Amino acid sequence: MKKIQYCFLIVVLLASVRGNVKGTPPDEGMWLPLLISQNFSEMQRLGLKLTPEQIYSINQSSLKDAIVHFGGGCTGEIISPEGLLLTNHHCGYGQIQSHSTVENDYLTNGFWAKSKKEELPNEGLVVSFLERIEDVTERVKRQLSDDMSEIERQQKLQTQIIPQIEKEASQGGKYRAVVKEMYAGSEFYLFVYQDYKDVRLVGAPPESIGKFGGDTDNWMWPRHTGDFTLFRVYMAPDGSPAEYSPNNVPYRSKHYLPISAKGIQKNDFAMIMGYPGRTNRYLTSYEVEQIFEQDNPLRIKLREKRLALMKEDMDADPIIRIKYASKYAAISNYYKYFIGQNKGLRRLRTIEYKREQEQKFMEWVNADPQRKQRYGKIFQEMKEAVEQNRTINPTNIYFREAVLASELLLLAHRLSFTYDKLVSGKKPTQEELEDLKEMAAKIHKDYNYATDIKITSALFQMYEKDIPKEHQPEVFQLIQKKYKGNYKAFFEKTFGASILKDPKKLENFITNFDHKVLEKDPAFKLYLDIRTKVRSVVTTISQNYELTRLKNTRLYIEGLRKMHSNKLFYPDANSTMRLTYGKVLDYKPMDAVHFDYITTIDGIFEKEDPTNPEFIVPSKLAELYKKKDYGRWGSNGTLVTCFITDNDITGGNSGSPVINGEGHLIGVAFDGNWEAMTGDIVFDKELKRTICVDARYVLFIIDKFAGATNILKELDIRY
Ligand code: ARG
Repeated sequence: MKKIQYCFLIVVLLASVRGNVKGTPPDEGMWLPLLISQNFSEMQRLGLKLTPEQIYSINQSSLKDAIVHFGGGCTGEIISPEGLLLTNHHCGYGQIQSHSTVENDYLTNGFWAKSKKEELPNEGLVVSFLERIEDVTERVKRQLSDDMSEIERQQKLQTQIIPQIEKEASQGGKYRAVVKEMYAGSEFYLFVYQDYKDVRLVGAPPESIGKFGGDTDNWMWPRHTGDFTLFRVYMAPDGSPAEYSPNNVPYRSKHYLPISAKGIQKNDFAMIMGYPGRTNRYLTSYEVEQIFEQDNPLRIKLREKRLALMKEDMDADPIIRIKYASKYAAISNYYKYFIGQNKGLRRLRTIEYKREQEQKFMEWVNADPQRKQRYGKIFQEMKEAVEQNRTINPTNIYFREAVLASELLLLAHRLSFTYDKLVSGKKPTQEELEDLKEMAAKIHKDYNYATDIKITSALFQMYEKDIPKEHQPEVFQLIQKKYKGNYKAFFEKTFGASILKDPKKLENFITNFDHKVLEKDPAFKLYLDIRTKVRSVVTTISQNYELTRLKNTRLYIEGLRKMHSNKLFYPDANSTMRLTYGKVLDYKPMDAVHFDYITTIDGIFEKEDPTNPEFIVPSKLAELYKKKDYGRWGSNGTLVTCFITDNDITGGNSGSPVINGEGHLIGVAFDGNWEAMTGDIVFDKELKRTICVDARYVLFIIDKFAGATNILKELDIRY
């Protein structure tokens, strides 16, 4: 205990000066590629051989042209002149699942297209190439003023300034343009993308490789997962992005990553480019407390129930297993994340650490009357806003994690935006209706009515127990009175009579979307009643909390940047392209334990357990292992499977290329480690690692395991 406290103190001391003061070792930081020249000398010192122009340029092809935002939630990289794309197995999981049937089970058996003709199209999958980034801070700020209230500021930004810039930059729909706030709205950057919508599945290992270790190993090192999948981007024959068509041709890559088969050593330079989703490194102690005490415990509890019920049905029926595989994995992934985050917050005493940081900040503030004027109320205001928010926070969480966990109510939720439009006298566009149909068809393709009823009933029962009576919609009284507390009977009646339940009727309804008809649908009406009640309870407080948070986070970061004026700051992740650099590095997870920086195929067979579906090893892999038949990809009599680096990544980075000093791919990032699950809140230099699948393991699976020579031939491999 003492030891940990002592270690913690050192970490705290280091933390206050760490990170990118010019000249100190990096690791923490998700840097904007546009500004990467500010980190350049540091990167060179660590082993980078490229120039900033070779990483990000708008005048010549550069690394950034090979990195894509994959499906909005992951990263992918182009690895051949013909648009071959590498990402994680868990990023392609939904697509692999969607193509799977009990007869043709690609989840279990893997999938390898023998030629381009066999590649499988994926409706709804989009990959985005980044054309350019532009700093538009000056232009935005000219239209804002300091004496605007926060709500005026947000309205002006969201309804005028940002849409105007985006509209101009999209050039009449040629591009997708997005303006993002950085440093909580102190700076603004424009991102211009081209979206490609014909993206086909090329190759995927079986789950027993791509998801080896399952949920047991998830978020943990040492790891032995071949977490990769291959897709290909297609374009119209004239080179423009296009919807799927058999006439499309493979994307002509502006840049692609050669793959290094040389292997890695401890302390080798490693950088990762990709699309980290969200970090919250500037949360106040009050917000962290709220997450620790309210958000995470409720999310864990609700997801635990939902997963257990889902699993029952999946285990009982192979059709349901395939239908729910991807949903289950997604819920389970963050279920474990929330558990790990709370363990970490406790172990690393993050709330205490935050309080100390706040105290130091206030000392700096109080030393100067002008600072006091501008920054003096940040924490007091946040404390009060959080206190208020905590009275309605569980109701908000239950809406997201219980009400919308019901698939039919989620469907209602998605229809509700068009419903609202019609109610306010606007008409939906044809495109909007087509999108709704696609969404509904997608939900129904993998829907099992009985499972939904079971889960919805159980979660609503929890709602009734956990949420204050005065926050509950009236329907709970009805369930008690008319149905004698029989939730299942109530939902069978309500869902059973709904058009949302019937794919054909629903499609017809969307074609002639009429809000008056929808209002009378029992499932939609239930959704509306709950939404109305929840809104009446939470809106005022939630809005106040949100506005207070926006304003004070912006002020806090502004103050911190002044307080540490010789330090480079990076903005929180916000689903824009970032670069993190560091090195291949081992770590000590806890007292008396050391974790090496690589794992090998030997570890797969240490973990092998034919009685546990998460640890089954495919027989072909066992044969290769027995013969030590690793081809060109082995070294020292074994085969490296995964490795770790000290790079700074988060969810959304999944599938990102790990790149060496020459600009070649050495691995694919796929996870973070258990001891640093607080990483999205505080970066812990000693403990935080990125888990990567080694490029040589990927090549071995393509070559020796799958015998996919057609794919191998396309790659540019450096020995
Ligand atoms: N934890 C990983 C991430 O969020 C996902 C790993 C998927 N594997 C699994 N067993 N669920 O990026």
